[in-house]
Formats: sequence, C-alpha cells, structure tokens
Amino acid sequence: MLKIDRLTKSFKSRNAVNAIGLDIPEGQMVGIIGRSGAGKSTLLRMLNRLAEPTSGRIVFDGRDITALRGRDLLAWRATCAMVFQQFNLVGRLDVITNVMAGRLYHHNFVASMLQLFDDEDRARAIRALDRLGMAHTALQQADTLSGGQMQRVAIARALVQEPRILLADEPIASLDPLNAKIVMDALSAINREDGITVICNLHTLDTARSYCDRIIGLADGNLVFDGAPRDLTEAKAREIYGAESEEAFSEGLTSTTIGKPLPAAAMIAARPQYALGAAQ
Ligand SMILES: Nc1ncnc2c1ncn2[C@@H]1O[C@H](COP(=O)(O)OP(=O)(O)O)[C@@H](O)[C@H]1O
Ligand SMILES: [Mg+2]
Repeated sequence: MLKIDRLTKSFKSRNAVNAIGLDIPEGQMVGIIGRSGAGKSTLLRMLNRLAEPTSGRIVFDGRDITALRGRDLLAWRATCAMVFQQFNLVGRLDVITNVMAGRLYHHNFVASMLQLFDDEDRARAIRALDRLGMAHTALQQADTLSGGQMQRVAIARALVQEPRILLADEPIASLDPLNAKIVMDALSAINREDGITVICNLHTLDTARSYCDRIIGLADGNLVFDGAPRDLTEAKAREIYGAESEEAFSEGLTSTTIGKPLPAAAMIAARPQYALGAAQ
C-alpha cells in the first residue's frame, strides 16, 4: 500500500501540488489525468523523490519514504522505477547496456563506475527485452531505434530494477497510435502479470479509461476526481481539462482505434513475448 498524505509542492508562492491525499493499494493501475501544468509530473517526481515535497508524507508499506536518505533513498528509487515521455536512454550505448543500467541500483558504487555487469544482469536484461519484443535489438545502438522501440527499452530498463511500483510520466505522448498501444499494452501486461502497481500520467482521457482501474483527476494542483473510469462523467472530464478538452478528448487511443485491452491470457496468446520467462 502506498499512502500519500497531504503531499504538497510549492514553487515560490504557488502550490504545483496542493495537499493531495491518496491510498493506492498494491497492484492497481492508476491513470493521472489533467491539463498541462496541473501538477501530474510534480506529483510523480515527488513519489520517487526526484522532487522534494514542501510538506506532507509518502508512506509505503508502513515506512516513511519522505525521510529516506543515502542508500535507503537509492533503494527506494529502484523500488519505484520511472519511465519518461522522452525515454531518457543513452543514445550512443547499445540497448542491452541501457537496460542493464537499471541494475546499477543493485550494485555498489565502484561496480557501477566500472560498469561491471555480471552474466545474471545480462540474462535478466535479455529476458526483460524479450518480454517487450525487443531482444533482437540488444546489440543495436539505442539512438538507431524508433520512439516506440525506445520506450519499450526504457520499460525493460525499469523492469530489471525489480520495482514494486512503475511510474510513467506521459509515456505515450511522443508516440504514434500504434506504438502508443504497444507501450500501453506492455504496461498493462506488467501490471496484471507481475502485480506491479502502475501509476501513469496520461494526457488523453480515452487511454486512461481503456487501461486504468482508477482515474485521478488533477486541476491546478488539486485532486478533483478519484474513482473508477465509469464514474468519470463527461461534464467532470471537461471541467478537469478546461480549455484543453477538445485535444484531450480527440487525440486519445479511442476504443475505435484500439479496442479494449485484452484479458491477460489473450494478451499472452497474442504476444507470447509478454509471458514471464519466455526468453528461457
Ligand atoms: N522546477 C519548477 N520550478 C518552478 N515551477 C515549476 C517547476 N516544475 C513545475 N513547475 C510548475 O508547477 C506546475 C505543475 O507542473 P507539472 O507538474 O509539470 O504539470 P503537468 O505535468 O501536469 O503538466 C506548473 O505551473 C509548472 O509551471
Ligand atoms: Mg508533465
């Protein structure tokens, strides 16, 4: 259980995130929606402590995360892996090295500096890549990949961290609809098969509706909706998106373009690479 208690982040006199309180049970797939500037990224960045809260607390399995320092903080960052809109791969390094970088959280500083990855790290990286349908690119330089492929590699890098929570900050905002679907399907498969909690900032409403168990709506740093997709009325959604409504309503992965997410079993049948241990 992840408990967020009156979490606030102020920039000068303005609260980018304003006293947000949420209880997120293990294994939930949560979509955070809201227009640009609503506070979505700031909230995610506080969760993995990339941004320091001004006040409030984050508690995971009874442990206060807000107070962690040093090694404990690094361990927490491994526990809640993050993927970004711009992928954040090292373009001149090959794909497998990018993925193994996710293992650095599990090694000491000297090993990290020398990039000493062992066979187990390599095997783990290949398994993660294979799950995302990307094992064949392992030795390719990362900057030769398409955007959709880069995001799948970034998800593989997050997976080798062995996270309990996967934070995704607009992971499909730079992708075309087909790649957006592949990436959302992958996040959904990870959520269902591994029981990893996924918290995903999404700009478009239909994607959140199609994939998430729960939708959190933010507006000007405030929590303005928290519920199941079916409870989010059109009027409420328009209030959340305000002037950006048309964009948010029209550019999503609509059900006509992608259909509903497949049940996990059907998804594995359709894409065997998503099954755990498929690489072995
Ligand atoms: N480092 C920063 N310094 C000052 N203001 C910031 C900083 N980061 C975010 N903000 C402000 O906080 C608000 C929320 O931003 P953000 O969390 O990026 O929103 P979203 O991800 O929903 O678009 C915005 O008004 C933004 O300008
Ligand atoms: Mg953002």
